[in-house]
Amino acid sequence: MKNKPVIIRSPGAMTRWSAGLKGTLGFVPTLGALHEGHESLIKRARRENDVVAVSVFVNPLQFTPEGFKKYPRNLAADAKTVGAAGAAVIFAPSAERMYPAGFQSQIILPPLFGALKRQKLEWHYRGVLQVVLKLIQIVLPDRVYFGLKDPHQLALIERMAADFNLPVEIRRCPTVRERNGLARSSRNTLLTAEERAAAPVIYQALRAAQKALRGGETPARAMRALERTLVAEPLARLEYAEIVDPATFASLRRGAREALVYAAVWLGEKRLADNIRFRLK
Ligand code: PAF
Repeated sequence: MKNKPVIIRSPGAMTRWSAGLKGTLGFVPTLGALHEGHESLIKRARRENDVVAVSVFVNPLQFTPEGFKKYPRNLAADAKTVGAAGAAVIFAPSAERMYPAGFQSQIILPPLFGALKRQKLEWHYRGVLQVVLKLIQIVLPDRVYFGLKDPHQLALIERMAADFNLPVEIRRCPTVRERNGLARSSRNTLLTAEERAAAPVIYQALRAAQKALRGGETPARAMRALERTLVAEPLARLEYAEIVDPATFASLRRGAREALVYAAVWLGEKRLADNIRFRLK
């Protein structure tokens, strides 16, 4: 371990620590169960700031009760990863400290995406915005780092930061993948050996759509290429996919310069989502 990060559990102590800091503070919010994707966020934050803080908080507002129970937790292992990647502090509050009795305020989601409605995931993203807003107010960072793996989450956070004049820079960071293309995710640890072997099909399906679009096919045909690739893997079940303009999340128009292909796929009882964004011209 490069250094042993300090673990701070109370929001008040976290804010006092940040307020007394000289230099810039980079912040990587996480749910824990850290992997190479988080490591790359922390390392980038370290390169761009004097000090880095990481939060490890399994936010109950963004999970179903079942998902919340199953989410992997290992603060000791996370502390090693955080220290090795060069962060100084872990903010690891309890749910009671983040949402004490009497907590009531709610964020209303901006009507950015039909996709969230279609996926019935508005409650999840409301929970994400709520906790990200609280974390930013508590940690007081100069820059916050998010992966591009969840493009809807990132766009909503960017919208919120702009709408509420949050005095932070939001930094987008590329998805980190295994050699077989599977996006690094804490949920990968929940997969059985068979599901893990099948999981790279998600990236293959995204790439099949990309190939079709770049070959001049329509989005509808590209979507069929994506579906055909997934159907060939008996363990995978497509929940939702979309091919959109990454700037607006609206359906891809003829002549668009960039595309985003997104898919949410079930492997057994685990839902994995991934996307790729690329130039068409
Ligand atoms: O993407 C995540 O890990 C979580 O949604 C976040 C941003 C840490 C909020 O809990």
